[in-house]
Amino acid sequence: MRFDIITIFPEYFTPLSASLLGKAQDRGLLSFGVHDLREWAYDRHRTVDDTPYGGGPGMVMKPEPWGQALDDVLTPGARLVVPTPSGRRFTQKVAGELAASPQLVFACGRYEGIDSRVMAHYSSPSSGVEVDELSIGDYVLAGGEVAVLVMIEAVSRLVPGVLGNAESVSDDSFAPGRMENLVEGPVYTKPPVWRGLEVPQVLTSGHHGRIARWRRDEALRRTAALRPDLLARLGREGLDKHDRRL
Ligand code: ADE
Repeated sequence: MRFDIITIFPEYFTPLSASLLGKAQDRGLLSFGVHDLREWAYDRHRTVDDTPYGGGPGMVMKPEPWGQALDDVLTPGARLVVPTPSGRRFTQKVAGELAASPQLVFACGRYEGIDSRVMAHYSSPSSGVEVDELSIGDYVLAGGEVAVLVMIEAVSRLVPGVLGNAESVSDDSFAPGRMENLVEGPVYTKPPVWRGLEVPQVLTSGHHGRIARWRRDEALRRTAALRPDLLARLGREGLDKHDRRL
């Protein structure tokens, strides 16, 4: 899978060569292109922003450098992702949808955002590109770069082969299927007693059925305690017949 990122701060993306993503790159599963938007600026000062029409504070990113950059970087069938706090919420489900795309192009806005005509232009059916304006949460970051790192990490681990066989994404919090609208319960490792705290006995019983049931119960308890908003979305269809006894 190919990721292209257009930004005025390419240095934000050095972590892409570390850890899981670095290994996936070495193995040829993922490839990244990080592009400096100023390469497509056309004046001596390499200007990428200007004052907003209608007045108000801050600056808006000019459409021309973005248009040139995106025309050069987008390939047919790509998805254009624009991180913005006013976008649709980025969730595990959206991560799964994005992971099915051959190329994702991320347009990182700074200041008050990118001139809206850029998104309008690429959203038109004739562009052959799908445009997603996405928010990673209800808070405002200084720019899209950190949000893009979050999205790339969440999407990459869903690309087949990126995680080792032993790790299954289907048991993760929010995973479509049995974990949709649930967060995972607690996890433990050795030693069996630490500072007087014992590991729940069921986990050392070797009884796979009881362990699976306990994990499901803990996920439901934790979701009810910490994320009642998710539990409300679970509905009766999201419960199995044993869940109802809780
Ligand atoms: N840019 C600034 N804040 C953001 C957020 N919460 N999500 C995505 N992009 C952003």
